[in-house]
Amino acid sequence: MNSEEQSVLKEKINALKKEKNAVIFAHYYTRPEIQEIADFIGDSLALAQQAARVQADILVMCGVHFMGETMKILCPDKKVLIPDMAAGCSLADSCKAEDLKQFIEQQTALLNTKPIVVSYVNTTAEVKALTDVVVTSSNARKIVDRLPKDKPILFGPDHNLGSYINSVTGREMILWNGACHVHSRFSLEALLRLKAENPGVEVLAHPECKAPILAQSDVIGSTKALLQHTINSPAKRFIIATESGILFEMQRACPDKQFIPVPPEVTEGIGCSCNECEYMRMNTLEKVYACLKDGKPEMHVNKETAAKAVSSINRMLEMS
Ligand code: 13P
Ligand code: SF4
Repeated sequence: MNSEEQSVLKEKINALKKEKNAVIFAHYYTRPEIQEIADFIGDSLALAQQAARVQADILVMCGVHFMGETMKILCPDKKVLIPDMAAGCSLADSCKAEDLKQFIEQQTALLNTKPIVVSYVNTTAEVKALTDVVVTSSNARKIVDRLPKDKPILFGPDHNLGSYINSVTGREMILWNGACHVHSRFSLEALLRLKAENPGVEVLAHPECKAPILAQSDVIGSTKALLQHTINSPAKRFIIATESGILFEMQRACPDKQFIPVPPEVTEGIGCSCNECEYMRMNTLEKVYACLKDGKPEMHVNKETAAKAVSSINRMLEMS
């Protein structure tokens, strides 16, 4: 679609938004044109916080499936639309509720007590329903720090984030072995080369990256924290180890600064060799327009599951 066609579609989307009293939310990893039409752009925590407050009849979540689910759980009386129901998440897929249930039972038997179950927000509603407290990359450290020191913790599904939180809190959480296919593939070799070629540059990484990438980073944080750092820092150049969609917002906020993305390892037969999340890219202007026009696809969450999941999400919102 050329830029003129994009402008026409954006105008139509804006008109539909007004007519239907709809609000569009977008994650930082979505395409630039989606971020441009969004009323609210944020990281997973900010999107959940904002959804819990917003006054509108229709909420359109341009992100991935678990983000739409979280939104519906927090706003059961609102119509939540998601432009493409197939926009999943490899990390959420790495933890099936029935497997987690079995793991909790095994660990409870081994420890002789039930561990506190902490789940990253990148999980299904069914997993959240088995969880005591949900966390995002923004608040995981703060929340884990506040949990009783004498109780074991089971953390899932992201092993890299869990290891990082263990290292900064001194806790020894039992970790689920899941990963994000984008963040676990950044190339250490390429990062070291970029650092050597750009002396003095700051390295910013998302905690879903592997430990050797984090060890080479100056700042580790959620998408929002990394963006905020680029705004606050006097540095002019940054190497970025997270999904490349965030570069759009970084460049928009800091037009005079330079952002260098870390490329992924090239592994034969595994996806593309770019650092994009193909699920986030499934949100297109055409699909946003169609979902607003047709009022579908609509997110539904089983009521019983939602009633259990909402407690673990609300606990996170209270502790954030
Ligand atoms: P944030 O919580 O930092 O927005 O991350 C969400 C995500 O999906 C990271 O891959
Ligand atoms: Fe999931 Fe990774 Fe995509 Fe984030 S970047 S939505 S963790 S697959």
